Amino acid sequence: MVNIAVLVSGSGSNLQSLIDHQKTHDFDGEIKLVVANKKSAYGLVRAAENNIANYYVRNDDHRLLELLKEYKIDLVVLAGYLSVISDEVLEEYENKMINIHPSLIPSFCGPGFYGHHVHDAAYARGVHYSGATVHFVSKVVDGGPIIMQEVVSVKDVKNADEIGERVLKVEHAILPKAVELYCDNKLEVKEGRVIIK
Ligand code: GRF
Repeated sequence: MVNIAVLVSGSGSNLQSLIDHQKTHDFDGEIKLVVANKKSAYGLVRAAENNIANYYVRNDDHRLLELLKEYKIDLVVLAGYLSVISDEVLEEYENKMINIHPSLIPSFCGPGFYGHHVHDAAYARGVHYSGATVHFVSKVVDGGPIIMQEVVSVKDVKNADEIGERVLKVEHAILPKAVELYCDNKLEVKEGRVIIK
């Protein structure tokens, strides 16, 4: 059984998609811990509603690491987690930490490209397609091996919000699938590329 921790900062809709997925799918993983770096993160409520241990931890990666060890976490999922992870945690969870990014990496990613900033840039550029990417977390922001991507047409959108809405639906579809593949040991990283076994 892969013990999963989900880190959130906001509404936690990606966390909810993971909670819903584990209720309806049989795979070798279970969410054991939710950590938010914002007291107001609704993801904490979603965790509590599903009897999942949840904590507010802000700017204290030592405490975060303590919790990850206490709950014997094997996989860390960043689900809209808007904080930089320290090298100490990254090293401890190399290729055991995944992130959902709301664009088709390498477009609109890296420092400063988070949340709505991503969709603002995509709208300003006039892209016809956007999407979401699940990737392993590395020391390079949004630079880790790509696990899964899905495209969505945004040719007819009226504003950046519409891009965000369409991309969020894709995020909810691919993050649970990527987590399931990881938990069922179907992912292998070779020369920076992810192979699905
Ligand atoms: C999502 O757009 C995610 O891609 C981005 O932040 C947002 C988090 O949404 N990193 P939620 O908290 O999962 O609803």
